[in-house]
Amino acid sequence: MTTQHHECCPAHTDPTDQPVTQNRLSQPDPERSPGSADIEVDRAEAEEFLELFHAENPQPGPLGPRIAAVMREIDMTGTYWHTAEELAFGARVAWRNNARCIGRLYWQSLQVRDLRTVSDAGSVAARCFEHLREAHNGGKIRPMISVFAPESPSRPAPRIWNEQLIRYAGYEQPDGDVLGDPRYRTFTSKLIQRGWRPPEFPSAFDVLPLVVETVEEGPRLFQVPGQAVHEVPLEHPELTWFAGMGMRWHAVPVISNSLLVIGGVSYPAAPFNGWYMGTEIGARNLGDSDRYDLVPEVAKRMGLDTSDEATLWRDQALVEINRAVLHSFRVTGVTITDHHTESRRFLTHLEREERAGRRCPADWSWIVPPMSGSQTPVFHRYYEAENQVPNFLADNEAAGRALQGGPPAFR
Ligand code: ARG
Repeated sequence: MTTQHHECCPAHTDPTDQPVTQNRLSQPDPERSPGSADIEVDRAEAEEFLELFHAENPQPGPLGPRIAAVMREIDMTGTYWHTAEELAFGARVAWRNNARCIGRLYWQSLQVRDLRTVSDAGSVAARCFEHLREAHNGGKIRPMISVFAPESPSRPAPRIWNEQLIRYAGYEQPDGDVLGDPRYRTFTSKLIQRGWRPPEFPSAFDVLPLVVETVEEGPRLFQVPGQAVHEVPLEHPELTWFAGMGMRWHAVPVISNSLLVIGGVSYPAAPFNGWYMGTEIGARNLGDSDRYDLVPEVAKRMGLDTSDEATLWRDQALVEINRAVLHSFRVTGVTITDHHTESRRFLTHLEREERAGRRCPADWSWIVPPMSGSQTPVFHRYYEAENQVPNFLADNEAAGRALQGGPPAFR
């Protein structure tokens, strides 16, 4: 599976970096603390979801009594508790509805960890590290989601600040250059202000600590244990000097600041992963000029003529970086997919969805891979665009915390 940046599968990062959805958590009333959960669950959304669940799952018994019970529960508590089956179905359909994800063919295989009773920062962090190990699965990556305590009127849900469970620090140097991932330069310096101590000898691939915020504890930092971090050192099948550049990437992309919404219930802490599509790393994380910006360096080492754009030195270097990524994951035994294979699978997914009588929302600008677009079949058509729920939503405040390192959700 694959998305473009935050949601399910950033095949590329959102080109504009603009959240697609409204922030469903923020309240117009400035007196209320942002993120506090004094919002009743929308009854119509709850009912619509229960209908969908019962339409696609005949086993769980009659719909009417379940809707009545949920309405009573909302009357009394302002929210309701999904059954384990509703939760698992809702999470899978949230993936199925994620318009940015090219990797949705396997949506039914998502493993759902029901961790709704877990809500203190230390336990959330520990379960996230467990998620990293279980999802890595010795290299045979399993699509997985861990669903922590939901938002509720009696207690706001925990928040994970990081965009993904594993991200690399970006250290601003005195000359303005950044060592590491420039995307996280502000996040990194804010965490240092909050007391994080980077390694004695900082490198371009230092894993940032996890920040978990709860209403009782405020933001707390947790170092990701080494056994939870699996990485792939990058080498090239022919260019022997490539390995000497010391590049690597983490094996599992676990998006951790996206808001899962099922039947009107919000789950702000619900980290989920698929496996990588090579271009996410090779074309975007390593290729973007505001990320690791590897293209000029690789072109130089390849001896290409960089004095004239028309030599297409950028394109040539980009292809070799992407070959290195796919090759290295393969020889390391870590699941990865290429953009040609994944594009064909996505068309298979669309056919299946159509046969099932469903509409499949898709965003062309996210689905088309960030290199060789016209060589992939997903380029040559249009898609349905309307949003559907359940889904993973971009929450503006969460997006801000992931890049700016604050402000906290609860103050
Ligand atoms: N594009 C993001 C990254 O490079 C990952 C987004 C999720 N990708 C995925 N294949 N599930 O880290």
